[in-house]
Amino acid sequence: PLIFVLNGPNLNLLGTRQPEIYGAETLDDIEALCAETADALDLAIDFRQSNVEGELISWVQEARSLAAGIIINPAGYSHTSVALMDSLLASDLPVVEVHLSNIHRRESFRHLSYVSKAAQGVICGLGPHGYALALRGIAGILAQAEQ
Ligand code: DQA
Repeated sequence: PLIFVLNGPNLNLLGTRQPEIYGAETLDDIEALCAETADALDLAIDFRQSNVEGELISWVQEARSLAAGIIINPAGYSHTSVALMDSLLASDLPVVEVHLSNIHRRESFRHLSYVSKAAQGVICGLGPHGYALALRGIAGILAQAEQ
């Protein structure tokens, strides 16, 4: 099964972007971790990043016909985008939301994620490892759906 791993705005800057919050690993490092983890779980991934809200929404729509699940770090759009939430609700796919940082420990405007309303599970605060855990979570959801 193919899983879309979608990354929102400014995540292309990981490694140099506020490393005290987001760590030293780059998005390429996270992609490599996802590829390795997916391989071990017999999953394939399509890993993408965009700074453009509409592009992320188009990718979620694309996933409807191509993917078995979606992992998404919506970054700043988590806290603003009803449209991204709606696209995920319309996808009818299992969705796991990931944040590198623990959004609940941070500014109050980060405590609400619209995307969480469309997510089966949410992982935050565990850095890049959260992506690996999300892949395991999706594998579990898919295995359960097969029974
Ligand atoms: C983030 C948390 C968001 O609040 C922030 O806007 C980001 C990254 C995270 O991965 O911790 O850009 O999604």
